Amino acid sequence: MSTSHLTNEPWDEHLIRYGMPFVPRLIAKARGTLIWDSEGREILDFTSGQMCATLGHNHPRIVEAIREACEGALHLFSGMLSPPVVALSQRLAGLLPPRLSKSLFLSTGGEANEAALKLAKLHTGNFEVVGYTGSWHGMTSGAQSVNYVAGRQGYGPMMPGSLALPAPNAYHCPVRHCRDACDGTCLEVGFDMVDAQSTGALAAVIAEPVESSGGVIVPPEGYWQKVKQHCDKRGMLLIFDEAQTAFGRLGRDFAFQHFGVEPDILTLSKTLGGGLPLSATIVSEAMEADCHEKGFMHPTSHVSDPLPAQVALAVLDVLAEERLNARALAMGELLAAGLRYLQDKHEIIGDVRGFGLLQGVELVKDRETRAPDVATGRAITSRCMELGLSMNIVSVGVMASMWRIAPPLSVRSEEIDRGIAILDQAITEVLAEGGRAAAE
Ligand SMILES: Cc1ncc(COP(=O)(O)O)c(C=O)c1O
Repeated sequence: MSTSHLTNEPWDEHLIRYGMPFVPRLIAKARGTLIWDSEGREILDFTSGQMCATLGHNHPRIVEAIREACEGALHLFSGMLSPPVVALSQRLAGLLPPRLSKSLFLSTGGEANEAALKLAKLHTGNFEVVGYTGSWHGMTSGAQSVNYVAGRQGYGPMMPGSLALPAPNAYHCPVRHCRDACDGTCLEVGFDMVDAQSTGALAAVIAEPVESSGGVIVPPEGYWQKVKQHCDKRGMLLIFDEAQTAFGRLGRDFAFQHFGVEPDILTLSKTLGGGLPLSATIVSEAMEADCHEKGFMHPTSHVSDPLPAQVALAVLDVLAEERLNARALAMGELLAAGLRYLQDKHEIIGDVRGFGLLQGVELVKDRETRAPDVATGRAITSRCMELGLSMNIVSVGVMASMWRIAPPLSVRSEEIDRGIAILDQAITEVLAEGGRAAAE
């Protein structure tokens, strides 16, 4: 098919805009940490696509797995199982603690959370679900109801029983109590608020172990243990959504291993499919049996599809063979050191924080007030793209403007150095051009 007409037409003429602005380049090719636009310009990808390409783009083993699936089956009747699906369920059960042994394979993170919420409601007989301020769990209605970072306005009521806890953000304490070190007061205040609002039907807390879109928030020591105690006291289940944190980004297979707390329900997505749409909802044998007995229903067109399962098996193989967990920690240190160097040099960087290869950089107008510098942040992000670095800037309500930096786990040290140099140049240039004033 000829694509020559693409240069003459506005690219988004026939597309619905869905939130973030479209990047003003067409991307034609992706390999490892690099992508190329249709004119052949090379761009470093510090977002791993949409946080899914943890092995790097188009890893040869993923390409091979896709070919293998083409020899077998790509898609089947929803009630049919295939060897890759069975093998993946066994592999995950082998990686996870014995209690988390039953998987349901879906396509997106939103869908996996939707299934998790339904299982939690069916199992407990309750319907109230508590999310976190700043959280992101997907765009389907149930998942969106417990998203508190953005996108709630204009669609009418969310799911009845959707409540929120304040995220333990030490840089912007949600209860205006701590500064720079969270002492857990927000959790106690939060559960008091939950109890005050509950109609006595609390089913679950859903959380990202390290909140990503909400500002790369690493909770303080012992935090998840306290949450689990609060849940147990109220007969609530704890759901961990590890869309971004599972499979290496934080240096372990699962982030909950760092925090020493096992969830009752685990959801996986993004990183499991390595760029292909695959997600999983994982529960205990007892919960699966109870929900089955109660008529749990969640067939979708692509439930248990063989193609993404074949790819996920390759993802798990590569993670182990290329020791990407250890690599993420080593490269994460290098990245964090580079970012801290930039923080020393540029006043606009108020904070650098993160874990492994998930790093957050706060852009502030003033380091004392910590007011977000949204406009300059956007101008620098655009300049980075012109210079060949793709960065994701996220706004956390009116509170923060941040870069969430997460290159593939296969990123090389020279690529990190190059990314930091581009960022340095972009910040310097935009500020020299009076970036704030110009951007506003
Ligand atoms: C933590 C988390 N959960 C769930 C989702 C939703 O996943 P999907 O977009 O695949 O539905 C996302 C997407 O960004 C996410 O970051």
